[in-house]
Amino acid sequence: MKTILYSRYGGLEELRLDEVATPDPARGQVRVRVKAASVNPMDGKIRRGEMKALSGFRFPRGLGHDFAGVVDAVGPGVQGFKPGDEVFGGVSIPKAGAFAEYALAEEKNLGLKPASVSFEQAAAMTIVGVTAWTGLVTKAKLKRGQSVFISGCLGGVGRSAAQIARACGAHVVGSCSASRREEAARLDVSEAVDYRAFDAVAYRGRFDVVFDTAGALSLRQCGAMLKASGVSLHIVPTFAKMVGCLMSSRHRLVFGNPTPQCVAAVADLAERGELAPDIGRVVALSDAIPAIAELERTGSPKGKLVIVPA
Ligand SMILES: NC(=O)c1ccc[n+]([C@@H]2O[C@H](COP(=O)([O-])OP(=O)(O)OC[C@H]3O[C@@H](n4cnc5c(N)ncnc54)[C@H](OP(=O)(O)O)[C@@H]3O)[C@@H](O)[C@H]2O)c1
Repeated sequence: MKTILYSRYGGLEELRLDEVATPDPARGQVRVRVKAASVNPMDGKIRRGEMKALSGFRFPRGLGHDFAGVVDAVGPGVQGFKPGDEVFGGVSIPKAGAFAEYALAEEKNLGLKPASVSFEQAAAMTIVGVTAWTGLVTKAKLKRGQSVFISGCLGGVGRSAAQIARACGAHVVGSCSASRREEAARLDVSEAVDYRAFDAVAYRGRFDVVFDTAGALSLRQCGAMLKASGVSLHIVPTFAKMVGCLMSSRHRLVFGNPTPQCVAAVADLAERGELAPDIGRVVALSDAIPAIAELERTGSPKGKLVIVPA
């Protein structure tokens, strides 16, 4: 099968499209014929060696985590899926390899794809949707009528968070580039602030939840923006944030782990039309490396980059 690989941590030049034997699923694993996969900032961070503690040192490594496809074979012990099932989910960080014709995923990181959701849409919403759901629903227990501030409300996670907050009946304020405010309004973000001119002091004590999806706010800024009982959520963990989140229950780190419950919640929202990713570009696997390189160089995605192997 064709797959994108690299043999050491480094720059974009390390990536290659290679031909390897199609892997067999081990115990608890499902082999999926990938119909679509999507690119996340994490793919580049891992490739550059910024997450070695999680990604390990085994090479060659595959690239990519989010995928949607059709179950092709199941390993011993798999009970919830059978060949022919349409699924979506995430490949674990140590394994990676969604940018391939076939991917191996743990059964516990998969869910059934709703028939009304395309493979491209499903692949584009796994990590971003699961992360937003984990933050707002599992950690912050967001309730109807509460107010949420989302930094980076038009990014992958931010857009999902805005839609999930709206589905929960919350009131959403967010930050984005000034030129994209109309796009934010279409997501029902009632007030979209230019992040280059953002002043946390102007929002003192206003929010039940501050979700810093862009990793742009300090804990001090978040604390100032929160109501007394509010909580801030962080998905870009700096050392200061890790320490601050350990010291105070007002600040929480969020990790988007695609558990069956989270994947099912995302599928449910998508099926109801309450969660839809913004797909910016769809490319063939053979064109994926230049597209990934372009995305990484511009650093400012206008929607998700989706890779289709066929
Ligand atoms: N902890 C986890 O489990 C987890 C899960 C998913 C993602 N992440 C991390 O979370 C971050 C966001 O992921 P993503 O997929 O949403 O990325 P993304 O799609 O690249 O979106 C980032 C967004 O942030 C905006 N932005 C940039 N600088 C900003 C600032 N100073 N203030 C406010 N917004 C700003 C960008 O706007 P412009 O493009 O207009 O500049 C863009 O819309 C990444 O670092 C990613 O690795 C962590």
